[in-house]
Amino acid sequence: MNELIPQSSKELLSTIGNYAKKLGLSAWVVGGAVRDFYLGKITEDVDLVFDATQESVAGFCVRTWGGEKHRFSQFGTFRVKLNNGLKLDLARLRKEKYIFPGALPEVTFTTQLKEDLFRRDFTVNSWALSILPETFGKSCDPYGAQKDIDSGLIRILHEKSFLDDPTRIFRAIRFAGRFGWKLAPKTERLLRQAVRDEYPLLVSRDRFCRELMKILEEEKIKEIFELLQKYDLLKFAWPNLKYHVALEKTQDSQVRLGILVLSLKDKGEDFLKSLRPTKKMSHEILSVLRLVQQEVCPLSPLSEYQRTLLQLFLPHLPSHALEPCFIHGRELQTFGLFGRRISGVLKKVRYAQWHGEISSREEAIKLIS
Ligand code: CTP
Repeated sequence: MNELIPQSSKELLSTIGNYAKKLGLSAWVVGGAVRDFYLGKITEDVDLVFDATQESVAGFCVRTWGGEKHRFSQFGTFRVKLNNGLKLDLARLRKEKYIFPGALPEVTFTTQLKEDLFRRDFTVNSWALSILPETFGKSCDPYGAQKDIDSGLIRILHEKSFLDDPTRIFRAIRFAGRFGWKLAPKTERLLRQAVRDEYPLLVSRDRFCRELMKILEEEKIKEIFELLQKYDLLKFAWPNLKYHVALEKTQDSQVRLGILVLSLKDKGEDFLKSLRPTKKMSHEILSVLRLVQQEVCPLSPLSEYQRTLLQLFLPHLPSHALEPCFIHGRELQTFGLFGRRISGVLKKVRYAQWHGEISSREEAIKLIS
């Protein structure tokens, strides 16, 4: 099993394993990283688990490779971002108890790796490899991760999994779409039941938004949206939300978010606000939404983001539609126009420029006079 850990990660993981041994800890690499090792995919996110407190390991990683560490207070987890771009999550083995559905779990520590693996989302993510020196690469796969990866099956570990953590409904779809896998029959039945019982509504909008953004980062966006549609999940993002062809033309999740907002037309603003975007993002997207709704060119230059969004969403727009209006509002006074007449005429010019009816300042002036 030693060969499962790729050459590129061996030095890092064995150095951490050696240090853990000195502290008398057991240490494993676990979860999505093991799945990706097995699939031969490069992973930049590595989850490590230890059977006792791992705080000093986080400090050791930063001292050895450079980077920064950050503590997540609720679960005693450390995230280390190394200067080489690798992200390590260091956690203690734990069990989880869900007091009420959709909420974050109550966590207790354990020394049993099997218990930690059992609390996880799917069998394919419940696989661990030792990183201690004498057992380096030794596999612990009690729930059939390898078998399910070989068969391409997403399988929850217990019946209450989707109720405990409804974000797993979206994770299941994301992994199914990403890897071209299927839901195991019982998992599929329980997922459909979870949708009928509206479990996704139990998740806070913030957590939901994080899942949506993870979906928007995926390469196989079309496949994932087809599955979201198939299982009637898009309505939890927003009523009448649908796949839009422009989504496939970029892998930038923020641009994809903009595409979804534009596709919802006059409902786009409420959808965007529900996701609590940053002020800047909200302004960038909503100003484009207004242009699209009013069919007018902008008054001032668009940002790179806005240009990309518009070009992808409306690929046949004339190129001048993205440029600032040929005529400035203030100039219109020199044409003898005042008050409300100015905004009316300006709108006429902007509309004509958007539609490609004029393609120069001279033509704009002709239109006014
Ligand atoms: N996990 C879980 N339930 C969740 C989220 C995460 O059980 N709702 C567990 C899984 O074992 C997962 C691991 O925590 O593999 C790490 O989470 P994350 O990084 O989100 O998952 P990855 O599988 O690494 O996903 P990705 O490949 O998209 O990074």
